[in-house]
Amino acid sequence: MSIEKGRLLKISILRYDPQLEGDKPRIEVFEIEEAPGMTLFIALNDIRQYHDASLKFDFVCRAGICGSCAMIINGKPGLACSTLTAKLDVEISLAPLPVFELIGDLSVFTGNWMRNMNERLEAWIHQTEAADFNQLEQRMEPELAEEIYELDRCIECGCCVAGCGTIQMREEFVGAVGLNKIARYQLDPRDKRSDSDYYELVGDEDGVFGCMTLLGCEDVCPKKLPLQSKIAYLRRKMLQIGLKKPCSCQ
Ligand code: SF4
Ligand code: F3S
Ligand code: FES
Repeated sequence: MSIEKGRLLKISILRYDPQLEGDKPRIEVFEIEEAPGMTLFIALNDIRQYHDASLKFDFVCRAGICGSCAMIINGKPGLACSTLTAKLDVEISLAPLPVFELIGDLSVFTGNWMRNMNERLEAWIHQTEAADFNQLEQRMEPELAEEIYELDRCIECGCCVAGCGTIQMREEFVGAVGLNKIARYQLDPRDKRSDSDYYELVGDEDGVFGCMTLLGCEDVCPKKLPLQSKIAYLRRKMLQIGLKKPCSCQ
């Protein structure tokens, strides 16, 4: 019985290690045979095992949950572990996500960017008094809990940040990931921040008014979060709050 051979994949990878003195960015092409059910993550492991042990890329969960394997796949941000090679042409190009600090090859440090953004937006539940842990939380309507849960599915992979043109021009822009967080906390009845507090956080051009509705974020979000409708809602809300605020020129 003859075993059918898989396609020959030609994977071009943008290589560069900023830690290596004298290293220069270059494209390296690796040829590997496609296996049934192969993901880009498996292909990269093959390359590392059989062609070049120095290739850098990140992964933890291999199940689209941790967000660490995000990279530019054929020009678009995506997760290597959830991308089947069968869905791609035989010529595949891979590059690291832009915006974030490059560790080497396809590995970037998203943690620093995400931490700064989370700290700036104080992305946690704020309660007015010290929480009484003996007291039960107020009941929440299942529909509301579901809506909050939907936005909590963000895995901080950075794809929406890498796919957004605004961040290329406005370094401090919090991105769809940050606006999604504010939309999430603003919905949560346990968060006691006022409308003005949220306005202080994202009612400017580094926040919701910086978004130029380029739509790339929702296109590339691997968790299919409703980023567009949430950003549009937040923009309307912040506009209403802004209009009610007393003018500082008076
Ligand atoms: Fe990734 Fe989507 Fe979260 Fe952006 S919103 S970080 S694309 S999961
Ligand atoms: Fe960027 Fe998404 Fe707005 S791509 S400009 S955050 S709609
Ligand atoms: Fe965790 Fe890909 S390895 S999302």
